Amino acid sequence: MHASDVADDLVEVLFTEEQIQARVAEMATEIERDYEGKDLVIVGVLRGAVMIMADLARSLTKHVEMDWMAVSSYGSGTKSSGVVRILKDLDADITGRHVLIVDEIIDTGLTLSWLTSNLGSRGPASVEIATLLRKPEALQMPIEARYVGWDIPNEFVVGYGLDYRERYRNMRDIGTLAPSVYS
Ligand code: PRP
Repeated sequence: MHASDVADDLVEVLFTEEQIQARVAEMATEIERDYEGKDLVIVGVLRGAVMIMADLARSLTKHVEMDWMAVSSYGSGTKSSGVVRILKDLDADITGRHVLIVDEIIDTGLTLSWLTSNLGSRGPASVEIATLLRKPEALQMPIEARYVGWDIPNEFVVGYGLDYRERYRNMRDIGTLAPSVYS
């Protein structure tokens, strides 16, 4: 689906499919350079990261292991509680290996902050984060992301994995959702 297919639901298109593909390819080039000769496992955070994982992994020209985690950010009621529950754990043993967590957005930072420390406790060689989007104004935790596609304003964005009530994930572009859709 393209943004033009749901134009009435969007205030604006923030990033087109072409811009996203170009930025993800740049991030892949950087990642490849930084992990040259290293054993790398990329970990996608279900479900939103499916698109960026697929595009990032295919942009790499070296072998990489792809693994997945599913977490619930609503462990004790609200997202802001910071409590995260593992719904699906890694299949891979990451002991002594380089781990790159891949997600499509850092919003409050609670999910990835928790995940970084959880994976960090398993004895990996390193744990870093790659995210396509980050909302600096929404951050509630200091969190270091080594690879960031773009910083964006604190607005409701959808597309390229990002949903509103499970819709828009399959939109190729990223857009700002019109308040009329969610109010
Ligand atoms: C989104 C996104 C991140 C998290 C970021 O996932 O994929 O994992 O929220 O938010 P935070 O920085 O405030 O913790 P979500 O919980 O919406 O699940 P989904 O990927 O299945 O859509």
